[in-house]
Parts: sequence; C-alpha cells; structure tokens
Amino acid sequence: MEKKKIKEVVKGRYAQIAKQAQESCCPSCACGSSSLLQAKVIGYSTEDLEHVPEEAIMGLGCGNPTAIADLQAGEVVLDLGSGAGVDVFLAANKVGPTGRVIGVDMTEEMVDKAKSIARDHGYHNVEFRLGEIEKLPVEDESVDAIISNCVINLSPDKSKVFREAYRALKPGGRLTVSDIVSEGALPNEIKSDSNAWACCIGGALEHQEYLREIKESGFENVQVLSSKEFYIEGEGSQALTKLLSITVRAYK
Ligand SMILES: C[S@@+](CC[C@H](N)C(=O)[O-])C[C@H]1O[C@@H](n2cnc3c(N)ncnc32)[C@H](O)[C@@H]1O
Repeated sequence: MEKKKIKEVVKGRYAQIAKQAQESCCPSCACGSSSLLQAKVIGYSTEDLEHVPEEAIMGLGCGNPTAIADLQAGEVVLDLGSGAGVDVFLAANKVGPTGRVIGVDMTEEMVDKAKSIARDHGYHNVEFRLGEIEKLPVEDESVDAIISNCVINLSPDKSKVFREAYRALKPGGRLTVSDIVSEGALPNEIKSDSNAWACCIGGALEHQEYLREIKESGFENVQVLSSKEFYIEGEGSQALTKLLSITVRAYK
C-alpha cells in the first residue's frame, strides 16, 4: 500500500475515534476488531489509571511504557503518537512540576482532545504538538526519555521514526516503546488491508527486523523488556499468524 494512503486511513480512523467519547479502541479497532484480536494486551495497573484523567483513557495502547521508563522528577519526556494523552499524563505525574512531557500526534482531533483534557485538569507540565513522528517537531538532543505506545507499527516509514527519536534524545537518553510486531512474515492479505493497518496489525514489522531497525538508527543496548503473544487468523485462510506485543528499551 502507498505510504500516503496508509497515513490518510490511519489519520481518518483516529480522528473518528477522538470524536467518539470513550470509544474502546483496542478491542474494536486499534489492535484489531474483536474477530482479529485474540489476546488482551494492555498493561495498566488500576493505580496508574486512578491518577490520570478518565477521558484520556481510550484503550488505544498495547502496553504501559511509562511504568518501566524509569521516569525521574525534572526530566523532559516525549511521547510519540500521544493520542488523547494517557501516557503523557501518567509521565507528567512522574516527572512532576520541574519536568515536562511533550506529546506529538498527527491527528488534529486527538491533539485538540488532549489539549482540552490538560486544560480541564490543570496540567501545566504537558504540551501537545501536532506533527508526524517521521519528522518530529522537537529540537535535536532536547529530551531525556522517549516513550511510545502502539504507534510505530502504524508508520509506513519506521526507520525514519527511529532515526528521528535518536536525533531528539540527549546523549545517554532512552527510548521505551510498546508496540506490535509479528513472528514471521505477515500474510499479504493482512499487509495490504488498510483496516488492518489502522488496527495496529497490518503494519507490524517482523520482530527481529524491528529490533534491527532500532539498532541501525544508532541505538545501543537494545533490550526486549516484555513480550506477550497473540494470534490472528487471515481471512479465507486457516493459518494463524503469531503477533507479539513487546516493550523495548534502547539507549542513545
Ligand atoms: C493506537 S493510537 C495510540 C495512542 C496513545 N499512544 C495511547 O496509547 O492511547 C495511535 C495514535 O498515533 C497517532 N499516529 C499514528 N501514526 C502517526 C504518525 N505517523 N505520526 C504521528 N502520529 C501518528 C494516531 O493519530 C493515534 O492518535
């Protein structure tokens, strides 16, 4: 599928979700329709969720990178594909008033929603910027930690995303991302299905390729911190494809 078309479909889907109050995206869309999704893959604790605005919790993620990003008071954090801001608000609670969290998302409706939640709940240490993760609207070497939750799979140019993340991090900075990858190649029918792309499946890279792209962007000490498997069945085919929801850490 053309890169431009993928972006249009993804943007359209998340604009629609942003406009629907309390859409439960992961089961119904982001990680597959209920017929595609074979496992529950989100990992927030009840305690985490009690301390973020409820409107920001849209169930769009596939992990909880903030839980293991070791965020410290005073740090500057960047969230790639921040959606309604759930991880930005979680991170903001961790870095405190002397820190800052920037969320970047290409869908205007998501950015508007996140900004309005921040305003309503009095978050002063967060900022939401409209932009693409392949061309981040942030300065070189300006952030301590980058997080991302179920977004990089949606990008048609993942190596650009990792190179941009590397550029934005300060030396010694860390990247902690939760994402969907496949074990073995995805069937062509899934790779060419725009709905599967928007649902965090069609764009899933093969596991080892994903880690290789991170390393090739300059990152060191690339480690898989957690991995949960689930299966999807291709239409008209009995073959099951194994997908993994992984959380990866890497350092600049
Ligand atoms: C599955 S949602 C995850 C949102 C958020 N991380 C969460 O966990 O709730 C994906 C988000 O990434 C955004 N997105 C997808 N591709 C993007 C890209 N190339 N650049 C910027 N944002 C992107 C979408 O607009 C959407 O808000």
